[in-house]
Formats: sequence, structure tokens, C-alpha cells
Amino acid sequence: MGILWVKHDDPLCFCIFLICILNSRAVAITSDGEALWNFRNSITSSDGVLLQWRPEDPDPCGWNGVICDSKTRRVLYLILSNHKLSGPLSPELGKLEHLKILSLHHNNLYGAIPSDLKNCSELQTIYMQGNYLGETIPSELGSLSNLEKLDLSSNLLKGNIPDSLGQLVKLSLFNVSNNFLVGPIPTSGILNSFARNSFFGNLKLCGTQISVTCSNGNPPSVNPQTPTSRRLLVSASATIGALLLVALMCFWGCFLYKRLGKHDKPSLVNDIGGGASIVVFHGDLPYSSKEIIRKLETLNEEHIIGSGGFGTVYKLSMDDGSVFALKRIMKLNEGFDRFFDRELEILGSIKHRYLVNLRGYCNSPTSKLLLYDYLPGGNLDEVLHDRSEQLDWDARLNIIVGAAKGLAYLHHDCSPRIIHRDIKSSNILLDGNWEARVSDFGLAKLLDDNESHITTIVAGTFGYLAPEYMQSGRATEKTDVYSFGVLILEVLSGKRPTDASFIEKGVNIVGWLNLLISENCQRDIVDPHCGGVRSETIDALLSVAISCVSSSAEERPTMHRVVQLLESEIMTPCTSDFHDSDLED
Ligand SMILES: Nc1ncnc2c1ncn2[C@@H]1O[C@H](COP(=O)(O)OP(=O)(O)OP(=O)(O)O)[C@@H](O)[C@H]1O
Ligand SMILES: *[C@@H]1O[C@H](CO)[C@@H](O)[C@H](O)[C@H]1NC(C)=O
Ligand SMILES: *[C@@H]1O[C@H](CO)[C@@H](O)[C@H](O)[C@H]1NC(C)=O
Ligand SMILES: [Mg+2]
Repeated sequence: MGILWVKHDDPLCFCIFLICILNSRAVAITSDGEALWNFRNSITSSDGVLLQWRPEDPDPCGWNGVICDSKTRRVLYLILSNHKLSGPLSPELGKLEHLKILSLHHNNLYGAIPSDLKNCSELQTIYMQGNYLGETIPSELGSLSNLEKLDLSSNLLKGNIPDSLGQLVKLSLFNVSNNFLVGPIPTSGILNSFARNSFFGNLKLCGTQISVTCSNGNPPSVNPQTPTSRRLLVSASATIGALLLVALMCFWGCFLYKRLGKHDKPSLVNDIGGGASIVVFHGDLPYSSKEIIRKLETLNEEHIIGSGGFGTVYKLSMDDGSVFALKRIMKLNEGFDRFFDRELEILGSIKHRYLVNLRGYCNSPTSKLLLYDYLPGGNLDEVLHDRSEQLDWDARLNIIVGAAKGLAYLHHDCSPRIIHRDIKSSNILLDGNWEARVSDFGLAKLLDDNESHITTIVAGTFGYLAPEYMQSGRATEKTDVYSFGVLILEVLSGKRPTDASFIEKGVNIVGWLNLLISENCQRDIVDPHCGGVRSETIDALLSVAISCVSSSAEERPTMHRVVQLLESEIMTPCTSDFHDSDLED
């Protein structure tokens, strides 16, 4: 405890954050969120990347470095390489049951690799190279039957390479170079297929893979028991680690307290209870305020259809059978109201065939509830990545053109003009006829001074952001055009802008396109699962996409121009003589 007082000269603060720590434990967050939060709490320092993680978020999907499945909200990727993370790895990582990619390379992580990682049975990639990880390689990793890449090079790993790793039949990359491993390299299974450059720079490895014969009496298996002296060392460092951890939690608790006070998340019923009023645009809703409020009061967790950086979305069914989507945005600061109401009035006045209609909103003391038309087709992200067989080529083109028209309307026909700022596939909704509707326009600006969203834009949407936007943070129509270009590439390829296959190569979807162009095989970008591809439209569509994602904003076309190009070169009526086979020549 003495150490704490040295680190913290403000005793009041100390008491307060003890309370906060208790509080933050009580927050309802998904189990993945809780696991990540525990992971975060064992990290003692970083370059600040984790400061934006907040335990009161409903799920961790907007946190830096975390990428979720858009439907299940389960964590798929944890990508935190090169962030100066220091500390041991929490075994809680094992609770991320759906984790596919764990990318923690080039940090200052120390301690053992937790054997609980074996519980992440969907893991495909583990990148932990360039840390200070010690102890032995847990043999449990051998049960990760989906593992394709395992890079543990440049750490402080000791002992033998476990035999069990030979069972990793899908392994295509394996690297344990530059460690302190000893003994024979197992010859079982897949480990036979790796060569010298997977193993070099170790203390005493031997085996056919590195052409070193294992002499019978020599180095071989080390005694798996830890000598007492080492045990002492371990327990000493564990104690220091624990103390550091408490200090960190103190610091963090204090931080949270200052930032948030002690709000618990109020429920929807509480929102409405405290004197809510309904604002309806254009007499667009044939219900009385009372009726709407009564309906709102019946909403609960079961009616949630999604959540994102701006808040939670509920499905609201009225007695006459009409259905609406209700987006609940928590209010953080006071004095925000007048500005908010004026902006919403503007958004409510925008009506267009390819935009999601905002019908009205409910003003409550604790939150804003925006009432939109419900779009039964779901969002493009889901359809494209989970049910792609439902989207043939023409359906995809139609969605691209619809989204382009919606966006062009915002840029050129609205007064004041509206920059969307968050164009991505989850913000393109589909109606019952698979027509695109752009959603969430205007919200990014509306919530600009609300820190929580700026960060989620950067975190959740980073594959869509124009380079100059990432540098300056300034949005223009041309940054939207860039995001739209990424969207075209996503629809064409069926791959997310943050797909693991390019992230591993250090490029995003645009970089991947450039690679393909340099090899003159840009047509390979087309999703092989897409039916009814009309090959004569591929080049035209690609050239539009390429100009949209130009790194220079001036070279990007306006959305008006994009619509013109799409309509003249792609949507020309076409006979159905063309089939997939056209692609093959
Ligand atoms: N009008 C609507 N009709 C039907 N479903 C909707 C509607 N609005 C939103 N949704 C669903 O709710 C989900 C969450 O929407 P939300 O806008 O909060 O998050 P997001 O689009 O993933 O991210 P962002 O906060 O950046 O927009 C959407 O993905 C969509 O599936
Ligand atoms: C991993 O699974 C084992 C049971 O197989 C369980 O005992 C352990 O607690 C799990 N670890 C985590 C972190 O969930
Ligand atoms: C393994 O990692 C080292 C760096 O530690 C690198 O030089 C080597 O090329 C890598 N080998 C393979 C097979 O990737
Ligand atoms: Mg959205």
C-alpha cells in the first residue's frame, strides 16, 4: 500500500476511484467486452491506444483495435501491434471464443503466453513476435486446429518446441526464430514442412529442419520443473506486477471519475419517464405523442436490432402494423439541446428515395430517440458478408448506384449541403426490394463534440477513411467520395476493407487493388461467389472506384459525376447473353 501513496498524492481521489473500480465492475457489457477489459487492466502502459476503451460501452466493437462481427457483435480481430503495450497477457483472452486474429506483435509484452488461448478455437492467426514473452510455448496451442499463422519470433521463450504443434495441419506460417528454445525440433506432422528460417537464432535447437543432428546424450528435453530460484523470481515479479496493476487501476479509476461522474446507464423507460416530448416532422407520423410514448415504454433488450458508434437501435412496431427503427443516442453534455434540435430539424426535412427517412424524434432529459423508417433488408455489411449468395451482380450494381444517388443528393442538392462522414457498408440499409438507402447522414457532424463518436469513427471505420482525413481530421465531400470508392471495392470483392488477408500484408483494400493493378490482374478483385457477373461492366466500375480512391482529393470526381459515370457506362440496359463464363477468357 505504501507504494500507492507515493504514486498518488491525492487521498480523496484514491477513495473515489476505489468506488469507481467497484462501479465499473457492475456495468453490463458483453462477455467479450469484459474479457478485453481484463486484458486491458493487465497492461501497465501503452502509447495511449487503450484510453478510448470504456467499460460502460454496451459492447467493445467501437474500441480501438477491436473488430467485431457486425451481426453477432462478437470480437473477431484484436489488432494492437506496435502500440508500446507493456505488461503480461491476461488469460481472459481465452474467453474471446470467436477470435480469429490476435495481432500483438512489436510491443513490450512480458510473462507467459496464456494456455487459455486454446479456448479461442477459431483462431487463425497469432502474431506475437517482437515482445518479451518468456516461459515455454504452451503445448495447448496444438489444439487450435484452425491456426494458419503462428509467429512467436524475437521473444524470450525457453524450453522445447511442443510436439503438439505438429497437429496444426493448416499452419502455413510458423516462426520461432530468435528465442531461447532448446532440444529437438519435433518431426511430427506439419513441423516437418518448415525450414531453417522458421527456427534460426535459438539457443540449442537441433533437428533435420535446420540440418543439426541431435546427439543422443546432448541438450535434449529440459526438465519441465521450475527450479526454486526461478520460482522466487517469478513470484517476485508477480508481486511487482500486481502492485503496478493496482496503481494503474487507481489511475484509471480517477480518470473515469473525472470524465464521467458516476452515471449508471439509464434504461429506456427512465429516459421517457422524466418528461419526454415528441417532435414529428411534416406530420409524418399518424400517432399522438401519448401513443408513441406508451409504445416506447414497452421497448426492452429484446427489441434491439443493432448498435453502433452512435447508440442502440430498437425495432418499434405500432398497433396498426407499421414498423419503425428507433435510434437511441445518449446525451453527454448539457446545452447541447438547442443545437441538436436545429440540426435534427434540417435532417428531418431531407427526403429522398435513396436516403433513410427520419420521421421525428423524442426529446428526453437523458437521451435523444430518433425515429426512422424501418428497412427490412438489413444493412449491406451483413448481406454482403454473411448472405452474399443473395446478391448477384445486378443487385450489387443497383445498390451501388442507389447509394451514389443518395450521397450525391446530400452533397449537391441539400442546403446546407451535408457531408456524411461515415459512409460504410453498415450505413447502407436495404429496403424490401434490395434498393439502397443511405443512413446516418448528418449524425457524425451532430455528434462531433461528443468524443465517443469521433473515436469510433476512427476505430470502427478506418478502412474507409481518406488519407488526408486521417491526417487532418477534416471532412469534405471528397473524403466521402473516397469512402464511397472503398464501398464500391467492398461490394465488388465481397471483402471487408479490413479483411485479414490484406491487413496481414500491411495494406488495406485500396492497397490490395493497387497490388492487383501493378500485376495487371485487377479483375481478380471480383468476388468469385458473385453470380451473373457481366464482365463488360467490371472495367467501368473499377475505373470509377479507382478514381474515387485516388490519394489526391482533387483528382476524385464529385458524387454528381460518379452518378453520371455509373448511369452512362454501367446501367445501360443489357441483354442476358453474358454469363460468368465471360470472365474466364
Ligand atoms: N432504419 C433502420 N432499419 C432497419 N435496421 C436499422 C435501421 N437503422 C439501423 N438499423 C440496424 O441497426 C444497426 C446498428 O446501427 P448503427 O447505425 O447504430 O450502427 P452502425 O451503422 O454499425 O455504425 P455507425 O454508428 O457508425 O452508424 C445497423 O447495422 C442496422 O442493421
Ligand atoms: C478455458 O477452458 C477451460 C476448460 O476447457 C476452463 O477451465 C478455463 O477456465 C477456460 N479459460 C477461460 C479463460 O475461459
Ligand atoms: C522469422 O522471423 C525473423 C525475425 O525474427 C525473420 O527474419 C525471418 O525471416 C522469419 N522467418 C519466416 C519464415 O518468416
Ligand atoms: Mg449506422
